[in-house]
Amino acid sequence: MVEFVVEKTDVIQLILQDRLHAAPANTTGRAFAPSNIALCKYWGKRNQKLNLPVTSSLSISLGDKGADAEITLCDDADITILNGETVPTSSSFQQRLSTYFDLFRTSSNLNFKTIVKTNIPIGAGLASSACGFASIAMALNDLFGWNLNQKNLSILARLGSGSASRSLWNGFVLWNAGITADGMDSFAEPLATDWPELCIGLLILDNKEKPVSSREAMQRTVETSAIYKTWPQQSAIDLEKITLAISEKNFKLLGETAEANAELMHATMRDSNPPVNYSLSETNSIKQAIWQLRKQGLEIFFTQDAGPNLKLLFLNKDTEIVTQQFRNIEIVRPFINNQ
Ligand code: PMV
Repeated sequence: MVEFVVEKTDVIQLILQDRLHAAPANTTGRAFAPSNIALCKYWGKRNQKLNLPVTSSLSISLGDKGADAEITLCDDADITILNGETVPTSSSFQQRLSTYFDLFRTSSNLNFKTIVKTNIPIGAGLASSACGFASIAMALNDLFGWNLNQKNLSILARLGSGSASRSLWNGFVLWNAGITADGMDSFAEPLATDWPELCIGLLILDNKEKPVSSREAMQRTVETSAIYKTWPQQSAIDLEKITLAISEKNFKLLGETAEANAELMHATMRDSNPPVNYSLSETNSIKQAIWQLRKQGLEIFFTQDAGPNLKLLFLNKDTEIVTQQFRNIEIVRPFINNQ
C-alpha cells in the first residue's frame, strides 16, 4: 500500500484555498504574540514535517512578554531585522523563516521584509520561536487580509514551530494533539479560566543561544530514549491533573504536576544518545534551593524548557519572600495588566 504523505503545502491549500493567490489587503501586516510556557510539555512529534505532537500540551502565556512582527512585501530577497539587527541571509534562523515564507510565496519575486522585536532572550528556552512564529503567522494574516479563524491561525503558526500554536492567546492554552494525518485537528484553544493570584518568576541564568535546538533534542529523544516510552502515558495523566488543578485553583497540584512533568522531560533528554543536558550547575543549585524552600512550607515550584533558565510558579501572597530569595527574578502576572 502506498502511504499518502501530507506536505505543509497541502495544509496551506486546505486552509487558504483561493486566498493564497489574493493580493495583499494592506501594505504592512502587524501582530503581537505572547510567549508561552508549557505546564504540561510538548515533547516528541508524531509527524516531523507538520510538527504534529505525540501528546497534547497545556501552557500559560506571559502577557506582554513576547514578539511584535511587522511584515511588508519586497522585491529582492527576504530580509529580517531582529531587534534592530539584520539577520544574515545564510543564518539558520533566516533559512528557517524563508522556508516558512516559501509556503506563501506564489511567485519567486514575492519576498518578505520582516521586522521582529522581542522582549525576551532569543533561543534560551523562553519560547522565542513560539511567539516569533505566532506573531509572523498573524502578521501574514493581517498583510493579506485572509481573515482566518483562530483554529486555522493556530495551525499556520504550528507549521512554523509546534509551540507557536499555543501563542495566539493570553492565559491558559490547551493544544490538542489530534489524530488525523493532515493535522487539521491539531490546534490550540484558550481555557476560559483565569487565576489572578498566579505568578511566574523568570530566572534567566544564561541568555545565550542553546547549543542543541529543541527540534533536534526532541527528535533524538524520541529515537533513542528508553524512558521516553513512558512519556505519552504519564503526560496524559499530568494533563488531566493540571486541567483539574486549574479548574479547582489547586495550586499545589498545579505546581507539583508541572514540575514533575518538566523533570520527566529532562530525564528523557539525559537518557537519549548522545545525552542532552540543558542545565547549568546554577540551574541545579536553584532547584535544590526550591526544594529546600518547599520543605520549609513555601509553595513554590519550577518548570524548565529547552535551556538552562527556570520559570518559578508561586502565588502573589508569597511575592515578597520569593523576591528576597531570588534577587534577579522577573515576575510576570499572566492575568493582571496583560495589555
Ligand atoms: O516548538 P518547539 O520546537 O520550540 O518546541 C518547544 C518544546 C518545549 O519548549 C521544550 C516544550 C513546550 O511545550 O513548549
